[in-house]
Amino acid sequence: MTTTNFQPRVFSGVQPTGNLHLGNYLGAIQKFVALQNDYECIYCVVDLHAITVAQDPLELKRTIREVAAAFIAAGVDPAKNIIFNQSQVSAHAELAWVLGCTARIGWLNRMTQFKEKAGKHTEQVSVGLYTYPVLMAADILAYKATHVPVGEDQKQHLELARDIAQKFNNDFAASIAANGHGEAFFPQPEPLIQGAATRVMSLRDGSKKMSKSDPSDASRINLTDDADTIAAKVRKAKTDPEPLPLEIAGLEGRPEADNLVGIYAALAGVPKERVLAEFGGGQFSGFKNALVDVAVDKLGPIGGEMKRLVTEPDAIDAILKSGAERADAIARPILGAVKDIVGFVR
Ligand code: TYM
Repeated sequence: MTTTNFQPRVFSGVQPTGNLHLGNYLGAIQKFVALQNDYECIYCVVDLHAITVAQDPLELKRTIREVAAAFIAAGVDPAKNIIFNQSQVSAHAELAWVLGCTARIGWLNRMTQFKEKAGKHTEQVSVGLYTYPVLMAADILAYKATHVPVGEDQKQHLELARDIAQKFNNDFAASIAANGHGEAFFPQPEPLIQGAATRVMSLRDGSKKMSKSDPSDASRINLTDDADTIAAKVRKAKTDPEPLPLEIAGLEGRPEADNLVGIYAALAGVPKERVLAEFGGGQFSGFKNALVDVAVDKLGPIGGEMKRLVTEPDAIDAILKSGAERADAIARPILGAVKDIVGFVR
């Protein structure tokens, strides 16, 4: 069963864990903006996911609003699309329980992000961190979403969501049919992982992903960085001694060069080939100046608007509340149907 029998619908989420960065923008938020013209889109600030690791409650409120502000500042229209925070729609947590009874422990044991995050402390981390990908599947399936724009690092979680959807459809096939839902209740959500920067790497180390939790602020460009900070970070970004190559093949084995070329391409909206046609053969210093210009051009207004929006928390809260009501109106009947299929009395 593919997504084709289902009404197209986009869902994606971003954790409110502070330090929204260029990777979040290029891997996800920039695509949210592009998709809004062609799809019904639901964009979620996933606060339930955030508390899988300890959060300061006051800081969490601030970062929830900041992520919503980032969506809007980047160009997501909150009137046309649904923007809300996850904890305001109880269907996420309720469906996660049902899907947790569908998912297998062996499947979760294979999740590489859990292994990275838990490190050696697998016995000490929260149960929530372990079952995190089940909640993520529930986020998507609560809306029968068919398309999920994410960065490369979420690919495995999306595969798990597809497996869970498939197993639910198989396990309950007879009940799904008996309740009038045909052959499949859930779609197979498709990851949208496209473009020149699906995995933006640290500016200090081309082998590490750009991340909110990297202790070095110089490793990432934050969406709220001002022009001088962006310029300083790009100029300090690690490179290698060779000039930029003329062809894509020449980026092989040069992770820092590849990363900067990918960032430029994604920000400028051109293929990497075009970037190399313009800058190949030249030194990094000239290319970095051009990269600063394109980064400041693109990110400056977004950061400025984010800072303005967060000074009006009541306005953001009103958007989140109205978004939650609209999200709930879609998810509630789907959750009700799941209850019928599973055999609950309601
Ligand atoms: P999160 O909050 O870590 O990241 C938000 C989005 O940014 C992308 N991303 C990157 N893309 C390119 N390069 C990078 N260095 C980079 N770092 C982050 C992520 O892939 C993501 O798209 N589990 C998710 C949130 C989530 C979700 C969902 C996403 C919860 N439920 C349902 C989609 C659908 C996460 O932790 O993203």
